[in-house]
Amino acid sequence: MTVAARAIEGVLVALERYEGENPIALCVGTPCFDPPRELLDALARAAARPHFGYAPNQGTPAVREAIAALHASAGESIPPDRIFVTHGAKLAVLAILATSLERGDEVVLPTPAYPPYLAIPELFGARAVPVERQGPAFAFDAVAIESAITERTRMIVVSSPCNPTGATLTESEAERLVALCRRRGIRLLSDEAYEAFRFDDGSVASPHAFDPDGNVVIRVRSVSKTYGLCGWRTGWVTADAKTIANLTRFQASNVNPPNTLMQAALEAAPAVPGSFHDAARDAIRTRIDAILDALADTQIRCTNPAGGFYIMANIRDTMKRTGHDSAAAFCIDLARTEGVALWPGEDYLAPCHVRISAASLSAPSVATKVAKRIRQFLREPN
Ligand SMILES: Cc1ncc(COP(=O)(O)O)c(C=O)c1O
Repeated sequence: MTVAARAIEGVLVALERYEGENPIALCVGTPCFDPPRELLDALARAAARPHFGYAPNQGTPAVREAIAALHASAGESIPPDRIFVTHGAKLAVLAILATSLERGDEVVLPTPAYPPYLAIPELFGARAVPVERQGPAFAFDAVAIESAITERTRMIVVSSPCNPTGATLTESEAERLVALCRRRGIRLLSDEAYEAFRFDDGSVASPHAFDPDGNVVIRVRSVSKTYGLCGWRTGWVTADAKTIANLTRFQASNVNPPNTLMQAALEAAPAVPGSFHDAARDAIRTRIDAILDALADTQIRCTNPAGGFYIMANIRDTMKRTGHDSAAAFCIDLARTEGVALWPGEDYLAPCHVRISAASLSAPSVATKVAKRIRQFLREPN
C-alpha cells in the first residue's frame, strides 16, 4: 500500500534548510503548558509498583472507573463498561472506522478536516465524502450534510472544537446532527480531543448530550491535548456497550491494550483541579490573541477560533500577489526563507489556507517576530 505524501512534509524539509537563526515551527499542535502534577506523581507511584503484565483489552477497571468519575463530574452518567481505553484519539478513530466500515461504504465529512478522517476510510476500501464548511467562520451546513448522505453512508465524522478551523458545534447544531443520524440510521463520530479548550459562552455542547446512551454518538477523548501529554498516547471512547465490545475485540486482535503505566497515571485525572484547565486555556487563548493581533494588518486573513489550538488563515489574495499556486508552495518558501513553518491547507482539504498552531508558540511575545518575518516574506512594510 502506498501512503500519499502530506503537504506538511515539504514544509518540514524546507524548515531544515532555513539558514537563519531561531526557526519557528507553528505546525504541530504541541501544547504550550506543563501537564498536571497529579498525573506525573501518579505515574511515578505506578512505576514503583511491580506490575508488568498486560492490561485488559478494554482498559484497566481502575482507569475506566476514573474516566467514569471524570464524566460524572461533568454531569454525565457513563458506566465503566461503556468506556474503551486505547492508544490516543487517533487510534480510537482508526478502531472506530475499522469496526464500522466495509468496502464501498461512505463517511460524510465536513471539511476542512483533520487529515486521518480522509486517509483512514481508504484503508478499508471506504471513502470520505467531503462537505465544505462555508464562509470565513466555517459555518456548519446541516442541509449540505444531509444531502451528502446516501445508502452507503455509515457515519458522519465531526471534531468540535475543530482541528483545523477552531469552529465549535453549537447546542442546536449538535442536537440536529444527532437527530439526523438517528433518523438515517447512521453513527456520529464525535472527536472531542480539544474539548477542554472552548472559548465560548457556554452555548456549545457535545453531541453526547443528545444521546446519553451512546447508541448514535461514538465519542473520542484523549490525554494529548487535554492534559498536555501527547507523548503518553492514551485516549478513550464512550459509546453503547455493543460498540465498546467491538472496539475491545479489535484492539485484542492487533495492537493490544495501551500501556499500564499511563493508565495507572490517568487514574488520578479526577484529582486534577479545574484551575489547571483555566490556566491552560488562558495560555492558549493568550497566544491565539497575540497572533491575531500581530497579523491583523497583514494580508493574511485569520479566523478567530471558538476553541482548540489553531488559527485557520485564508491566503487566497496573498497567493495571488506572491505568485504561489498552492498553500503548500507558499508555506515551503516561507519556511525556507524566513524560518516560519505553517501547515498548508491542502492536507485539510482547505486549499488557499494555512493552519497556524498557536499552542506551539513558545511565548505570546514571539507572535510579533512571526508577523515581522511574514511581512518580510510578503514584502510588506514592517
Ligand atoms: C481532531 C484530532 N483528533 C485526534 C488527534 C490525535 O490525538 P492523539 O494524540 O490522542 O492520538 C488530534 C491530534 O492532533 C486531533 O487534532
